[in-house]
Amino acid sequence: MCGIVGYLGDHKASDIILSGLEKLEYRGYDSCGIFFHDLDHDQYITYKDKGRVKHLMDDFDYQFTNHLAIGHTRWATHGRPNLENSHPHFSLSKRLGIVHNGVIENYQELTAKYLSDITFSSETDTEVIVNLIEYFLDELPIEESIRKTLSLLEGSYALLIIDTHDPSIIYAAKSKSPLLIGLHPEGITLASDVMALIGHATHYYPMEDKTFAVVSQNNDVYEYQIYDIIGTKLSPELLEMDLVLDEIGKAGYSHYMLKEICEQPSVVRKIMSKYLDSETCRIPEDVISFFMDATRIYIIAAGTSMHAGFVGKYYFEHISHIPTEVFIASEFAYNQPLISSERPLFVFISQSGETADLRACLTKIKERKFPTITITNVATSTLAREADRFIEIHAGPEIAVASTKAYVGQVTILAIIAYQLAPHKPFSLARELSRLAVAMDAIIDKRDYIGRIVSDKLTHRNCFYIGRGLDYFTCLEAALKLKEISYIQAEGFAAGELKHGTIALIEEGTPVIALISQKRINHNTRANIREVLSRGAEVIVISLTDVSESADQVILMDVHEMLSPLLMVIPTQLIAFYSALHLNRDIDKPRNLAKSVTVE
Ligand code: G6P
Repeated sequence: MCGIVGYLGDHKASDIILSGLEKLEYRGYDSCGIFFHDLDHDQYITYKDKGRVKHLMDDFDYQFTNHLAIGHTRWATHGRPNLENSHPHFSLSKRLGIVHNGVIENYQELTAKYLSDITFSSETDTEVIVNLIEYFLDELPIEESIRKTLSLLEGSYALLIIDTHDPSIIYAAKSKSPLLIGLHPEGITLASDVMALIGHATHYYPMEDKTFAVVSQNNDVYEYQIYDIIGTKLSPELLEMDLVLDEIGKAGYSHYMLKEICEQPSVVRKIMSKYLDSETCRIPEDVISFFMDATRIYIIAAGTSMHAGFVGKYYFEHISHIPTEVFIASEFAYNQPLISSERPLFVFISQSGETADLRACLTKIKERKFPTITITNVATSTLAREADRFIEIHAGPEIAVASTKAYVGQVTILAIIAYQLAPHKPFSLARELSRLAVAMDAIIDKRDYIGRIVSDKLTHRNCFYIGRGLDYFTCLEAALKLKEISYIQAEGFAAGELKHGTIALIEEGTPVIALISQKRINHNTRANIREVLSRGAEVIVISLTDVSESADQVILMDVHEMLSPLLMVIPTQLIAFYSALHLNRDIDKPRNLAKSVTVE
């Protein structure tokens, strides 16, 4: 987690850092800070505090000319979110300033071996890095001191370092945590995510693991050199910037989350245009062949992406007839199951492509030489680069911390793959996806109605979602969304399972939201609804027209049963959104969360 930005160039560095940090706040927002060179007085200035980037922008003075700066927005791992633990951190002499994203696992050993005399001013592992560099400066020049330090670090890091002896250089290094170098003739920007480079780079380079970069100004020219850990020069392959500022704005919506919910019909249409040509799948053959060769699929994911994985399992088994299992990444990493298939395929689903729990699994799977594929929204991400193949979701940048359109993108892609692998095509996927997008538009147009239901009925401190089959998977996602942004304690249950214990929690007025899209099991779920109604629950039923009853509160246009998770999830996202709005929560940046979880 954490976001870092650095800039060296003709423009005002503090402006670029602050707007970059705002765009990276989804990575953590416990505290933030900036370190820059004040050219007017040839001095260095640090501002940092707990709280949001807005505070850093509004309550500090940036009137000085400055062209060199680094900044940080933090999701606390080592030490509480307070002023002392906020980045940047400094070496004892204050010669070196550093910002860091990642976790150094052996910081205590390094402290004991090299830095036992030092009294640190924070509880962070980052202060160890910067002091270690200073420790080696007694004998080595700065670049070698940094490289020597990097060679000792275990764990993950993206680092930006300023040496106050030279205001024309930024040093950068990366291992496991993402770091990109954005290039423009007027300056060089470094950031954890391409979003912070928009407007400041024409091309960029995602740094590789265990590489080190020196960004410098030579007269009016801005240059960079990339080295591996032993100092060999590397020649990076540059990528063109294809994101524009409009794609990361709110486009008139009050919240990113609402914008992203409303974009979902266009996400489905965009994915169709990328990967489906009438009935023909356009996912590259070399990717599809991985699936065709597999005798068992293992899906590994976390959070919302894992819920997409459950739907994917259903699709692979019911449409493609390939046995599939879904694993929680953080469990799989350290408790691997027996891999019983001869030709397993490991599919990593991740909107960010950076989730540390998945990366840990990918490393272990690669050691065993099994084939791997990542499905991700970020084509330049670590998981995309490190798997054998990757499929891009094309949902566009998702900025709200709670994932909505990336989930819909993941499920749509899983449907397309499963359909392609189907021995017999059970329906016309192109036609059904087009109908789905229309049905999505219809419920999104009626979103105010969902807002009214929520303010009448979702007033309790807890809530249950119930459903069967595919609806059960949607219940899990629906409950997670509600928890994440409203802080209402919500649980998703297989409707038939509720009575085996949890029904004890149902009392007068407890909200129970039932999802019904599957005809075959409609009457079973209806029976479960009656069970909770007779115990006083306040029930909201969301159903497809074909299986609806007149008293149902939300009735959606019919879509193919297989695609129902893509439609049913939308009213649940809106329920979460309006509940959080009603409770005055920070919807786009809920407490304690981060969008990209780069620590295990
Ligand atoms: C975090 C996010 C969730 C997300 C999960 C997995 O917890 O807050 O929204 O579902 O990570 O992230 P990934 O990027 O791997 O899909």
